[in-house]
Amino acid sequence: MSSGMTMKKKIVLLPGDGIGPEVTRAAATVLRETAHEFNHEFEFVELPLGGAAIDAAGTPLPPETLEVCRKVDAVFLGAVGGPKWDALPVGKRPESGLLGLRKGMELFVNVRPVKLIEPLRGLSPLKQERLGDLDLEIVRELSGGMYFGERGNVAENGVERAWDTESYSTPEIERIAAFAYRRAESRTRRLCSVDKANVLTSSQLWRRTVTAMNAVYPSVKLEHMYVDNAAMQLTLKPSQFDVMLCSNMFGDILSDAAAALVGSIGLIPSASFGDRAPLFEPIHGSAPSLVGTDSANPIGSILSATMMLRDAFGLSLEADWVEQSLTRVLSAGYRTPDIAEPKARVVGGSVFTEILREEMQRTFEHAERYGWGV
Ligand code: IPM
Ligand code: MG
Repeated sequence: MSSGMTMKKKIVLLPGDGIGPEVTRAAATVLRETAHEFNHEFEFVELPLGGAAIDAAGTPLPPETLEVCRKVDAVFLGAVGGPKWDALPVGKRPESGLLGLRKGMELFVNVRPVKLIEPLRGLSPLKQERLGDLDLEIVRELSGGMYFGERGNVAENGVERAWDTESYSTPEIERIAAFAYRRAESRTRRLCSVDKANVLTSSQLWRRTVTAMNAVYPSVKLEHMYVDNAAMQLTLKPSQFDVMLCSNMFGDILSDAAAALVGSIGLIPSASFGDRAPLFEPIHGSAPSLVGTDSANPIGSILSATMMLRDAFGLSLEADWVEQSLTRVLSAGYRTPDIAEPKARVVGGSVFTEILREEMQRTFEHAERYGWGV
């Protein structure tokens, strides 16, 4: 069985810090197995980023890391940050490496799908009737807003003052909104644009720009929502949302809130796009306390790898194959400790990945005999 042509792809792995390296290994295992079964050629290059890069090269984003990432077909990132580097000032911390990478790779779109994995339905803190068929996508602007605005820190008469600025230009809003509209067109054609236009001037420009663009995408039903209400609606009735369009800061906050609805932030993948190579990363952090316990959940990372297959390489058959196999492993009761229900078969992250790899092989053989889609 094959999906057609052999694909040759060069992929950068940025394991980063904390549990980053272990979840990156899980993603790489899935990608290698995919290449093997479907006759693709994936070449991997591993480079330092974040705290690991501070230790190795004295800077969270070594120039070589950025240079190579800009030129390859796709980049996978584990996680950055940890207590070891917490005392460093903004600008020198591991997180600055990630922000510099987003900026340097010109990644202005971040997509965070929050979708219920059926066998894990019971993990949600919401009552089942509230949960419904949760399947939404947060489209977060990634290279502007308060994260990259003018900031400063002064002391006047012994009083310290610090500030960060939220600022967006019309073209910046247009390019992220265009992506969100197209994403909505490919789904159920509902777009909810999130802002704080009752208070912020930048949000008023945001709302005006997004509204004007509806003329270009007339089949999409546009709705605006203030961010505070959006946070509440996410908790009350998340299934009302399809695509949510957010600024960098609002998207950061709402994506963690939305992730909690499926039971664990460890389950959520993300993809970032711009004019160069796309980047894929689970949205969880580096979870330093879990290091060495093999208890990190690899699912966010595995689903980031399937987003790479589908959204960067157009290999949707391969991505479906991995996701179907994952669902089967979960249906068989295997769980990492963070999502273990009382009767679960609890295994470490590396064992879970190995079980998945075996299931992928079985699914593949099965599909060869009976046809795809079983
Ligand atoms: C995220 C993270 C990052 C962000 C941090 C680690 C800089 O919270 O990807 O959501 O704020 O963007
Ligand atoms: Mg965040």
